[in-house]
Amino acid sequence: MNSLTFRLLEVFEKVVESGSITAASAALSLSQPTVSLQLKKLSSIIGLPLLRHHQGKILLTDAGEALFKCAQDVLGAQARLKSQIQALHGVEAGSLKLAVVTTAKYIIPPLLGPFCKAHPNIDVRFTVGNREQIVRRLEQNRDDIYFFSQPPDDPSLVTTPFKENHLVVIAPPDYDGPDNCSLQDVASQRFLLREAGSGTRMAVEQFCGKHEITFKSPMIIESNEAIRLAVSTGLGLAIVSEHTLAQHEGENVKKLTITDFPLKTHWQAVTLRHRPNSPAVDAFMQALLSTPSN
Ligand code: PGA
Repeated sequence: MNSLTFRLLEVFEKVVESGSITAASAALSLSQPTVSLQLKKLSSIIGLPLLRHHQGKILLTDAGEALFKCAQDVLGAQARLKSQIQALHGVEAGSLKLAVVTTAKYIIPPLLGPFCKAHPNIDVRFTVGNREQIVRRLEQNRDDIYFFSQPPDDPSLVTTPFKENHLVVIAPPDYDGPDNCSLQDVASQRFLLREAGSGTRMAVEQFCGKHEITFKSPMIIESNEAIRLAVSTGLGLAIVSEHTLAQHEGENVKKLTITDFPLKTHWQAVTLRHRPNSPAVDAFMQALLSTPSN
């Protein structure tokens, strides 16, 4: 076992957690042949097969189970050591990786300015994607804190609500169709919807499913900015987070008064229970919780 290294254990853990060599390669920024080669090397170090393939899935052999458990113990201990060392250096060193859903990009960057000023040596990385993309990053344990309004329901997550999110119905400035009514009453208008995989779209679908509402001729647009612009130029109606409107007061859209709207959810900061918080994560969470909640 002389040549068993942290890196080999890390590759093995990533393959098992992500369920595929392709996903593990992407998460580790390695090529697929390199990952396959490292798996082969591990298997020859252990002297037994570690993985088997069944109906397109990667499954662990008994030796693989034992090695996976060892990888979790060793890498967990390494992460704890890293965070203790960071603590000895103080908050001022280290990195902070944040991953936010597209709509949350209106609320997190304003906090980053003061935070980076107060902690100039923390290397902050910021990734934006729709809900589905950020859930994938969370499953791959790629970042320190994730931001959703609808986090996955999973006991291995710690979720901290910190701000309200209001979804509102918007229309072009010269809209003269039904208002002060139910969503059903405007469902025959053209609606501009976010793509499948978006958290906003998910909230809209949940509401429509509950009230048996079907939009007559929806158009899919994959960006809050493009939706807002399209509504302002008369293309149709949309349901968007109020945060997407706040910084564009001049861009004219009309908020409709619709029964049960605004739909209210909470922005939540999400961390993985088994990933130890670094001092930088604790400092950012503190900054987050000291901001007004609405
Ligand atoms: P979205 O997510 O940007 O993918 O629509 C927003 C949300 O989770 O509320």
